[in-house]
Amino acid sequence: MKNSQDSKISSVNELEGFTKICLVENLREKHGQKFFVNETEIAVFKVEGEIFALNNVCPHQHTSMIYEGFIEDGCIVCPAHGWMFNLKTGRMPTDKKGLDTYPVKIIDNQVFVKVIKKEWNW
Ligand code: FES
Repeated sequence: MKNSQDSKISSVNELEGFTKICLVENLREKHGQKFFVNETEIAVFKVEGEIFALNNVCPHQHTSMIYEGFIEDGCIVCPAHGWMFNLKTGRMPTDKKGLDTYPVKIIDNQVFVKVIKKEWNW
């Protein structure tokens, strides 16, 4: 049987590498918000109660506007020129790689994201 100390330890381990970014209620449905985590700019969306985190820099012309995009068919649409990226996978409709996505955890109404800093190679 687990005691309260055990459950504290397991929730700390569960959050290893994760950073708290906000509370669930700080995110507006289908309105992106920008955060900096581990020196990386990310775009976070709440869609039908689910929370998604993607890189905020569009691979097309490297604009940092993904968080200002709109949601269509499970995708985020870049507001600059309309490239689309699947919210879950970050991939484009052609299945081409698009945006990095990041694991999200919600614990006690707090949103945590795990971002591993990327070395750009474009
Ligand atoms: S910069 Fe995103 S579609 Fe062009």
